[in-house]
Amino acid sequence: MKKWLLIIIIIFLIIIITTFLWLGICALLLRKEHITEVSTFGDTNTKGEIFVAYRPGLTNYQKETNDLIVEELVNKNWTVKTTTISSGTPINLTEFEYIIIIAPIYAGKVHPNVKTYLNSLDLKQTQVLGIAISGGKDPKSMQNLRGHIQTANGKLIGELHLGFTGKPEIGAEEHMIDFIKEYIN
Ligand SMILES: Cc1cc2nc3c(=O)[nH]c(=O)nc-3n(C[C@H](O)[C@H](O)[C@H](O)COP(=O)(O)O)c2cc1C
Repeated sequence: MKKWLLIIIIIFLIIIITTFLWLGICALLLRKEHITEVSTFGDTNTKGEIFVAYRPGLTNYQKETNDLIVEELVNKNWTVKTTTISSGTPINLTEFEYIIIIAPIYAGKVHPNVKTYLNSLDLKQTQVLGIAISGGKDPKSMQNLRGHIQTANGKLIGELHLGFTGKPEIGAEEHMIDFIKEYIN
């Protein structure tokens, strides 16, 4: 076999193996559950309680989004309880005035932990804000999150689709703050 042909085959094999390894690592990381305690922010003498839950992604962006929203709500004088979405997330949410769900999108759908969690809830028409985070902002991804919130019997009052492709879309922070302002006083 010619030497240059051998080199091309080796390079090709390295690319294939690296790609599969990378995909395997991503799949493992995405399957991992993130079970965390519920943290409470804000004083006791506030307007009421809001529950904010997020499913961590491969990056820290879902947590950063969560933290920004929690901060915004605390500044508005709400008590906020927040945690990750997992098999350990509370399902009795009747004490809350609003529920905010932050969901990363993979293969056009919310992360399976978000789906399983929402499918286990009966929100009894509690007001819900849905935030989808995806690379391409395909409306079908938001539709997927919307469907699960409605299956959970939540009253979806607002939805926001944020783009994240290794870095947040331009103006993401302002969009989040405006979004909260629009639906929660
Ligand atoms: C395995 C995988 C599949 C993805 N599939 C989609 C998709 O179908 N549509 C989309 O818009 N973005 C997709 N994305 C981009 C993610 O939605 C985007 O990176 C989002 O911010 C998820 O958070 P993370 O990057 O922290 O994991 C995908 C990303 C990964 C890693």
